[in-house]
Parts: sequence; structure tokens; C-alpha cells
Amino acid sequence: MDTLLSNMEFQQTVPEQFVLPPENRVAGEINTSVSLPVIDLRGGPHCHVPDRDKLIREVLRAGKEFGFFQVINHGVSEQLMKDIMGLTEEFFNMPKEDKAAFYSEDSSKTNRLFSSTIYGKDGPRYWRDCLKLACYPVPETINEWPNKPTKFRDILAKFIVEAREVSMMLLSLICEGLGLKEGYFEGDVSSGQVLINANYYPPCPKPDLTLGLPPHCDRNLITLLLQGDVSGLQIMHQGRWVGAAPIPNAFVVNFGHQLEIITNGILKSVEHRAVTNSGAARMSMAVFIMPTMESFISPAKELTNEENPPLYKSFLFKDFLRIYTDLSAKRVDVMEAFKINV
Ligand code: OGA
Ligand code: NI
Repeated sequence: MDTLLSNMEFQQTVPEQFVLPPENRVAGEINTSVSLPVIDLRGGPHCHVPDRDKLIREVLRAGKEFGFFQVINHGVSEQLMKDIMGLTEEFFNMPKEDKAAFYSEDSSKTNRLFSSTIYGKDGPRYWRDCLKLACYPVPETINEWPNKPTKFRDILAKFIVEAREVSMMLLSLICEGLGLKEGYFEGDVSSGQVLINANYYPPCPKPDLTLGLPPHCDRNLITLLLQGDVSGLQIMHQGRWVGAAPIPNAFVVNFGHQLEIITNGILKSVEHRAVTNSGAARMSMAVFIMPTMESFISPAKELTNEENPPLYKSFLFKDFLRIYTDLSAKRVDVMEAFKINV
């Protein structure tokens, strides 16, 4: 419990465990000449979209070029986004006694509040606290969520349903655009858990010695990320890091490993990391759409043929998760494990 960064006074120096080896530190210039594509979803899932084809082209283009983009006008109300971010901030700012019930460093537990360590007990620690919750289906998971602050459950329930709808809308655009069979993303592949990571990155006295999150790709199908107005997310693009500048009320969207594998590499799961800063605490809320554990994942038949053989193996999602964790989420290693050497 004492390891939670959110329980500490502002740190004047970086404790040794957080100091990364020089080769893992933030180094080199950030590429400021490009920014993530921004896509207007024209009101989101419930909106009749006369120019659906244009929207599909925009999503695929951004997806192929960057593997990361931001969506605005996506249908989730500004008030709801403000409320969920505000309540999550309140959660992290509660006295330690109120957070104690949720605190656990046991990574086999799904619902828990933990700090800093990502993989392995001996690795370096990262400058982040995280509240991780399974959120779907809501009625089956809601009783396990924090009941303080008072409105947290109620607002998270609404937010999850709406954020999931935006994800499903994006998946249906991708499905149509790639010529996959209708409903391809509607079965097991998207109906597992919806996990959230509510991330809290306190100000750090020496941002160049630490990272909030190391470079990684997400393990799931598709991710939506709500970030507040403090920047920190960076993505790998053509060999250089690019910042994902905060846009009020936008979601940052990226593809997890599963979408890369299903699309046989047409849509890539792109490495990203979170850097720290000395000025302001940063919060973000990542929503991960997961396949069911028994979901059978393989490159889609529609996207493979003799000229385009499958580049990835087929597997059950639960087996993927095990290997991903064993390999500490490092993209090169994870991809190597699932690649077919053609
Ligand atoms: C994550 C993640 C980025 C951020 O939680 O997987 O990549 O900006 N978060 O907090
Ligand atoms: Ni991530």
C-alpha cells in the first residue's frame, strides 16, 4: 500500500527503483512534424451516416498509416467523459484507507489498484498508479467496482456501454472496408471482457529518468483511450516517437495485437509509451475490448490466399495472453512468437 505513488507527497527526487537504465530512457527528439489523424465520427453509433464509405476510407487510411488516430464527435457525451475522469481523479486522491481494499500487487487478480511495476518483481518500476477493472457485462461486474466516490459505479456503467458502442462502430467500419464477412467482429472476438486501466501519473521531478509506461502494444482487439488535457502518450511512427496531443473529449484509438493478426498485418498494432512530466499530474482511461478466453484467433480467410499467405499462427486467445505476459509485452518478441516464417 505504501508503494502507491498517489499516496505520497510530491517527490523531490526519483527513488532509485524508478530510475531506468540509460538505454531505456526517453532519448532523442520527438517528431513534432506529424500528428495523429483526427476523424469526425459524425455523431457516433446512433447517427445515420450518409457518407459511410468516406468514413470507412478515413478509418482505414489512418489505421494503415499510423495504427493510431483520434476520433471526435463520437457520440459519448462531454458530460459523461468529464464525470468519469473527475470521479477517477477523486478515487486516486482519496485517503489511503479508502483505497486500501482495492490495493493488490497480485497480477493474477483482475480488479485491483496497483503501482508502477509492470512485469516481474525485479524489473524497474514505472511512474504510474493504475486501477484495473473488468467492466463487462456491466450487471455481472459492477458489484466488484469501487463504491467510493459514491457516483463512480453509476457513471462508469454508463461510460462503458457507450465507449463499447463506439468501438463496435469502428469495428463495423473496418469490417466493411476490408471486405470481411458481415458481423466478423461481433462474436467471441469482441465479447470477452471490457477492461479498463485508469492510469494516474503524478508529476515526476526528473522525467528524463523515468517512464509512466514502457513501450508496448496492447494485447486485445481494439483500444479507446480517454486522456485529459496533459500530454504524455507517444506512439512509434516510422521509427520515431510522435506525441498524441490531447484534444478535448476525443478518444485516441489503437489496434491491439488481435486486430493485427486477424487482418493479416493490414492494420498494425503500434508500439506506444507514456512519458512523465514535472508540472502536472496526468490521468488517462484506457478501454480494452477483449476476445473471450476461448476465442479462436486466426488471420481472416477473406484476407489470405496463395499470394497472401497467413503471416500469423492461429491460437486460442487465452494462450496468447499467457505468452504475451511471459514475454513482458515486448512487441518484437510477441510478434516473433506468433509469426509464421514464410
Ligand atoms: C495503456 C496505455 C497510455 C496512456 O494503458 O495500455 O497505453 O496514455 N496507456 O495512459
Ligand atoms: Ni497501451
